[in-house]
Amino acid sequence: MGKVYVFDHPLIQHKLTYIRDKSTGTKEFRELVDEVASLMAFEITRDLPLKEVEIETPVIKATSKVLSGKKIGIIPILRAGLGMVDGILKLIPAAKVGHIGLYRDPQTLQPVEYYVKLPSDVEERDFIVVDPMLATGGSAVEAINSLKKRGAKNIKFMCLIAAPEGVEVVKKEHPDVDIYIAALDEQLNDHGYIVPGLGDAGDRLFGTK
Ligand code: PRP
Ligand code: URA
Repeated sequence: MGKVYVFDHPLIQHKLTYIRDKSTGTKEFRELVDEVASLMAFEITRDLPLKEVEIETPVIKATSKVLSGKKIGIIPILRAGLGMVDGILKLIPAAKVGHIGLYRDPQTLQPVEYYVKLPSDVEERDFIVVDPMLATGGSAVEAINSLKKRGAKNIKFMCLIAAPEGVEVVKKEHPDVDIYIAALDEQLNDHGYIVPGLGDAGDRLFGTK
């Protein structure tokens, strides 16, 4: 069964409070999402493999560790996932970025796929699927389905805020996928919004409505 990690670091919790606050404007919202994505990327990369290399310090020859060059792919779910990409790339700049476009039908709440563009070497990469919100779980499940259908084997899912309902759905449909969350909220409301949540992530990020 996939593991669920909730990052309750004080810096993340502090920034999330301002992300949630409805009086936070688009510019600040964007900056905060970017910062939290970086902080989460620091944790999510904790298990990246290392290899030893020989170096010469000013004092002595030594062996030291560098990243082994594992290939990483970041997959934002459009639109709102885009807000998390740069923050992750600050820490792993060599990662490639694919895109999966999904929107949630407001009546059925079912995800509708409208765009997929992935790195060509899907089978060789480890993927981090990113989206600020995991609500019913439909979008995350569909994005992961889409990646797996094209050959992806190692996938992590990272979001800012999750509802317990969505976490259960992803765990059930994709038990091999670990889930990384900044905050696990209480529930969904009747419109499929996370409570207390932050509202519509895409609209707040891009200033639309
Ligand atoms: C939001 C959010 C997730 C999805 C979560 O996207 O960014 O992708 O809803 O809901 P779910 O877990 O119930 O599927 P939305 O459909 O509003 O599209 P947008 O990012 O283009 O605004
Ligand atoms: N999508 C959002 O942007 N916010 C929610 O609370 C649920 C789905």
